[in-house]
Amino acid sequence: MMDRYAVFGYPIGHSKSPVIHQQFAAQTKQTLSYEAIEVKPDVFSATIDAFFHAGGKGVNCTVPLKELAYDKVDQLTERAEFSGAVNTVKLMDDGTLLGDNTDGVGLLTDLCVNLGLSLGGKRILVLGAGGAARGILGPLLSAKPSDLYLANRTISKAEEMKALFSSVGRITPSSYEYLVGQQFDLIINATSASLSDSLPAITKGLLSPNGVCYDLAYSTQPTAFVRWGLREGASLSVDGRGMLVEQAAHAFKLWRGVLPDTAKVLEGLK
Ligand code: ATR
Repeated sequence: MMDRYAVFGYPIGHSKSPVIHQQFAAQTKQTLSYEAIEVKPDVFSATIDAFFHAGGKGVNCTVPLKELAYDKVDQLTERAEFSGAVNTVKLMDDGTLLGDNTDGVGLLTDLCVNLGLSLGGKRILVLGAGGAARGILGPLLSAKPSDLYLANRTISKAEEMKALFSSVGRITPSSYEYLVGQQFDLIINATSASLSDSLPAITKGLLSPNGVCYDLAYSTQPTAFVRWGLREGASLSVDGRGMLVEQAAHAFKLWRGVLPDTAKVLEGLK
């Protein structure tokens, strides 16, 4: 029987993961199947059990299931532990489930390899302090920026993140108002505002000359935040499709032991 993989999410119709993983499989000459399955949160636990009992080898989890997957698995990688969320589940040889989170490494690979940025000594601003932000803060801090500001409407959540990541690096929690007058080399939108094509309360002038804007969300049309970056004169203002492909590559590596080449796949998605 062919090794079976899937992405679970709700909704899942728009998912590009099956196409990406099928291309990785063809490129690395691996025989496997990968499908998108719509799974409502209330049946997540039963559905993932059934999938693995039927011979499934691995599952990706997307919105809104990543926290449920975190609670479900038997063991966590360190980066999944920090993220509080799991996007990749692997069936281990002893029948237990391992939970990993490849979102942060996916973002870092897109920023540093595909886009050629260096983050060391740079001023970084992350907008939003929810689940998406939590998944990327560890890897961003590991890249040793001079400052990492975390702006959120609900400032207490940004303060929680500061405490959570204190062993990795320093986060400066901020309200949106407090940002006025400062400038950042890289601004990352980790709010869910993009999903409704709206923007967090960011004012003009926050981006350094030649600064870069990155939206974790992606869409067929430029997101509201990508458009904001272009208006603010960003040297580069992009959405998260590169991160999507790179997080998939690292999930593939966890499952199949080989890191696929992402360049062609990414080109195909543009
Ligand atoms: P996700 O998993 O996508 O991060 P989440 O954990 O619900 O989802 O977090 C959503 C984030 O987007 C939060 O930081 C939220 O801000 P609050 O914590 O203040 O609610 C942020 N967010 C959503 N819509 C927003 C908007 N219109 N303006 C600013 N921030 C917004």
